[in-house]
Amino acid sequence: MKIAVLPGDGIGPEIVAQAVKVLKALNLNLTMTEAPIGGAGYEAAGDPLPDATLQLAKDSDAVLLGAVGDWKYDKLERHLRPERGLLRIRKELNLFANLRPALLYPELAGASTLKPEIVSGLDLMIIRELTGDIYFGQPRGISTLENGEREGINTMRYNESEIKRIGRVAFDIAMKRNKKVCSVDKANVLETTELWRQVMIELSAEYPEVELSHMYVDNAAMQLIRAPKQFDVMVTGNIFGDILSDEASMLTGSIGMLPSASLDANNKGMYEPSHGSAPDIAGKDIANPLATILSAAMMLRYTFNDEANAVKIENACKKALAQGYRTADIATEGCNLVGCNAMGDAVVAAL
Ligand code: NAD
Ligand code: IPM
Ligand code: MN
Repeated sequence: MKIAVLPGDGIGPEIVAQAVKVLKALNLNLTMTEAPIGGAGYEAAGDPLPDATLQLAKDSDAVLLGAVGDWKYDKLERHLRPERGLLRIRKELNLFANLRPALLYPELAGASTLKPEIVSGLDLMIIRELTGDIYFGQPRGISTLENGEREGINTMRYNESEIKRIGRVAFDIAMKRNKKVCSVDKANVLETTELWRQVMIELSAEYPEVELSHMYVDNAAMQLIRAPKQFDVMVTGNIFGDILSDEASMLTGSIGMLPSASLDANNKGMYEPSHGSAPDIAGKDIANPLATILSAAMMLRYTFNDEANAVKIENACKKALAQGYRTADIATEGCNLVGCNAMGDAVVAAL
């Protein structure tokens, strides 16, 4: 099992080191090879996705990624910025299906900013389309109009096959869960998502057992905070999924708890926390590594078909939380406050 390890920027190296430690503790037959991406790629090779990094990712069965980005790169031309490296690797590897499970560990019911009764028992799977939408649509850019003022352009677009394949992922996952899919769109205003809704309805004919509902994204944002447990599987486009998954992370206590899997059609995948490089806390050993460790568990589940070891990692995270270990973002009164590295150690000990 070959894994490309791409720590990236900011807290990336700190959190990835914890996930690597946990994977090593399982004594599996893994080969892990590190390479730079994002700002680190730019520093090493003048490219946020160096050729050698992309080649390594292509030659591996799975990619474990930390995060990319730092304010200091914000002035670079767009194609040189760290975020572009991440978008390119997703596109190059055809990772169209992004699974972001928002699961509340009972121990963290008090860590959410919402009342415990609103979030307790939450188990929501957000499925975000990852290689289309306004993120990649052409035309795009900033140009100068005839009257001299500037105009910014991005294009929201989805074709039928792109919608269908992410819809299938959602329905297939729903069949293994509670057979409920909520498709989130803005079909009242945007034609792209009007087509999205039509295709979802057509596809649902192939899944008679699954109950399909639709919700406008503005209402969905509100309902996630009002009554999040009404949702089971939520499927949506790239930009709505980006925003809603950050929102949903707070239901689990912290953005530091939300893992993700980005899969192609053959379950080859890239695994990364849903959060960013958190430059504000980088280098301080205070980041929460659990989203990254839980992403490694998703890697064993989805790419390596190793459910037993995936569950082992998840249970070890649960145990560390039950023992009171908390990083600052999920700290509650009387907890055992630890840093990033010590949280990784606590998970390894629990394994
Ligand atoms: P962010 O997710 O990095 O941080 C938002 C807030 O959450 C910050 O206060 C941060 O300290 C906190 N946070 C994030 N992860 C945490 C963790 N594991 N433990 C504790 N606290 C955590 O988002 P941002 O500040 O908007 O963006 C920072 C940089 O990250 C930008 O360059 C952005 O483009 C990039 N980014 C990258 C990814 C990715 O690589 N997948 C995702 C989002 C943002
Ligand atoms: C994420 C991030 C990325 C996205 C950025 C950094 C390109 O926010 O993984 O959620 O918008 O997809
Ligand atoms: Mn995001």
